[in-house]
Amino acid sequence: MTFKELAQKRYSVRSYSTEPVSDEQLNYILECARIAPSAVNFQPWHFYLARTEEALQKVRQTYPRSWFATAPLVLVGCICHDQSWHRPTDQKDHGDIDIAIATEHICLAAAEQGLGTCWVCNFDAQLCHQLLQLPDNEEAAVLIPLGHLAADAQPRPTTRKPLEEIVTEI
Ligand SMILES: Cc1cc2nc3c(=O)[nH]c(=O)nc-3n(C[C@H](O)[C@H](O)[C@H](O)COP(=O)(O)O)c2cc1C
Repeated sequence: MTFKELAQKRYSVRSYSTEPVSDEQLNYILECARIAPSAVNFQPWHFYLARTEEALQKVRQTYPRSWFATAPLVLVGCICHDQSWHRPTDQKDHGDIDIAIATEHICLAAAEQGLGTCWVCNFDAQLCHQLLQLPDNEEAAVLIPLGHLAADAQPRPTTRKPLEEIVTEI
C-alpha cells in the first residue's frame, strides 16, 4: 500500500463491532504514536486507554453519541502543557500540533491494520478532566474510538478542496 492509498483508506468510522482489539494490534498502533515527531522532540503527550466498562462509561459521558458507545476501546489524547514547546518569539504553545500528529499516526496505523478510528474533539473536555482525574498540567484534547468496523460501517460522503485552492506559490 502506498502512503496515499493508506491516507485514502482511513476515514471517520462511526460504527464498530464488539470484537476486541488484540494487544498486538493495540501495541503496534501505540508504538506508531510514540515515534511521532514533536516540536523540539518534547513529546508532550499522554494517552489514556479506556477499555474496561468502568473506564468506557466515564469517557462515553463526555461524548454521549450512540455510535461512539459502540467502540470497544477509546484513547484519550492529552497535551502535557508543562512539557510542550512554547515558541520564544510569541510563546505559542505547540502542544496542539504535537498531539495532532501523534493522533493521526494512531488513525493511520489503525487503518493499516484494518481497524477504524474517528477523531473526536467535540466532547466535554472539562468533564473528561474531572471524571478521569487528570493532573492539572494535562488537557484532554481528543478522543479516539478504536475498533473493528461493524458490518454497516460506511464512510460519509466527503469532499476535499482542490489543490489550486489550498496551495499558493510565493
Ligand atoms: C480535529 C478534528 C476534530 C474532529 N471532531 C469530531 C467530532 O467531535 N465528532 C465527529 O463525529 N467527527 C469529528 N471529526 C471527524 C471529521 O468530521 C472528519 O475527519 C471529516 O469530516 C472528514 O471525514 P473523513 O475523516 O471521513 O475523511 C474531527 C476531525 C478532526 C480532524
